[in-house]
Amino acid sequence: MSYYITTPIYYVNSDPHFGHAYTTVMCDVLARYKRLNGENVKFLTGTDEHGQKVAQSAIKFGVEPQVFVDQVSLLFRNMMDALNISYSDFIRTTEDRHKRGASALWRELFERGFIYFGTYSGWYSVRDETFYNESELTQEGLAPTGAAVEWIEEPSYFFRLSSMQEKLIKFYEENPNFVKPGYRYNEVKSFVKMGLGDLSISRSKLKWGIPIPNDETHVMYVWLDALTNYISALGYPNLDGDYATFWPASAHIVGKEILRFHAVYWPAFLMAAEIKVPQQIFAHGWWLVEGEKMSKSVGNVINPLVLINDFGVDYVRYFLCREIIFGNDGNYSRSSFINHINAELVNKIGNLVQRTLSLVHKNFGGVVPYDNFDKEEILEFAHNIVVSYCKAMDNMDISHAISYIVSLAEEANSYIDKHAPWRLPVGNDMKRVLYTLLEVIRHIGILLQPIIPDSACKILDFLSVPREERTFKYSGINGALKTCQLPNFYIIFPRIQ
Ligand code: MSP
Repeated sequence: MSYYITTPIYYVNSDPHFGHAYTTVMCDVLARYKRLNGENVKFLTGTDEHGQKVAQSAIKFGVEPQVFVDQVSLLFRNMMDALNISYSDFIRTTEDRHKRGASALWRELFERGFIYFGTYSGWYSVRDETFYNESELTQEGLAPTGAAVEWIEEPSYFFRLSSMQEKLIKFYEENPNFVKPGYRYNEVKSFVKMGLGDLSISRSKLKWGIPIPNDETHVMYVWLDALTNYISALGYPNLDGDYATFWPASAHIVGKEILRFHAVYWPAFLMAAEIKVPQQIFAHGWWLVEGEKMSKSVGNVINPLVLINDFGVDYVRYFLCREIIFGNDGNYSRSSFINHINAELVNKIGNLVQRTLSLVHKNFGGVVPYDNFDKEEILEFAHNIVVSYCKAMDNMDISHAISYIVSLAEEANSYIDKHAPWRLPVGNDMKRVLYTLLEVIRHIGILLQPIIPDSACKILDFLSVPREERTFKYSGINGALKTCQLPNFYIIFPRIQ
């Protein structure tokens, strides 16, 4: 089975921040999960490099736009490497392959009669790269997002979005899982039911963009340009190769503020061009700081690289996945960061690994005490945890999936306390208890791989689990440990002071 997952492509007007790191890590976790499930995964991320916002930033820094976007796009790539992101492709909208795809989609829409020429007059927010109606503005005359708006009046091409309203509603009704979580689906549907006006899709006063086919005095509206990345990265307009394998996408993961673009405009463009629409749009919430969205413009941004430098990549990944129920908003605080790590990774999982391996090394010279024992109840529990975890992951309920791993570690810690293997004579009972614990740890290691890949790898290395036996297929008795000599181990989860 093939699985295609995407992040939004990020604006390169300024450095990457915590919010960008968040979406990217969530997608990475899902991509890794699917790979471990044996699926053929394509995971796309990249940068959105055109538009007025980026052009203005280049001017502010006094460099040519292309030089500027080259620099900032590289910072995003570096952030992804620092976060251990397993993306399979990184697309930049200034690449030729993307320009080709976006121009082809434009032509397709034009030839099918969905584009006409007119004049746009209305409000525009550069920060949001969004057109707003008068009625959408706040009393202070700002965009609903709080961004400043400016009045623009210019010749423009329009997309006949209004003609797609009925088709979209029918599509939502037939595909209730198209937008997740469910309450977002309802929001999208009501928005479309309220009526759709046509959408301005070109800018004539801006130079930094993809020229419109047959009219070089306009560039494409940055959102039409950007959304096309999801197919241009697959080789569109070429319909074989990756496009044939991976389109329609399995899931576009986006922040809730850009849901409308993905769940309304994007399927409308695609339907008009008679291209299949993606299977699902998942809208996640925001990281807040003292109740306000973490964003560059507010100036309350946490730099993920500083956190990684302070705590290591896996602690950062764990916190991102664990703190917020995927879909909801959540607050960033250093104390909750430290609490989650110390309470779960250090006290529950790290401790279990440490205690068990010390006893195996002390009493059996590090040889797995395997002896075809009757299965202990806790192993049944571990096998069931794998099922629950996969169910949660399939629903993109990442924090919940982690809570299953934590509960398995809790169960194992009670088991170790109850049986107190350190008090048993070196013999069969001790062997059985330690072997059972090693098996539980093997399961924990397998399940942790999508979340904290490096640490999970160390755990599985401590157990000498062969690299090719680390997929979910090997959970349960399929991959049960056999007797072998284990390597030396060390503390994987140091406590944060
Ligand atoms: N370029 C557009 C997306 C085009 S996709 C075809 C864009 N870029 S962005 O740089 O502003 O990135 C927005 C994304 O960053 C959000 O959708 C979200 O995924 C992430 N976040 C930015 N700030 C965030 C928080 N404070 N919290 C969580 N994620 C947020 O929009």
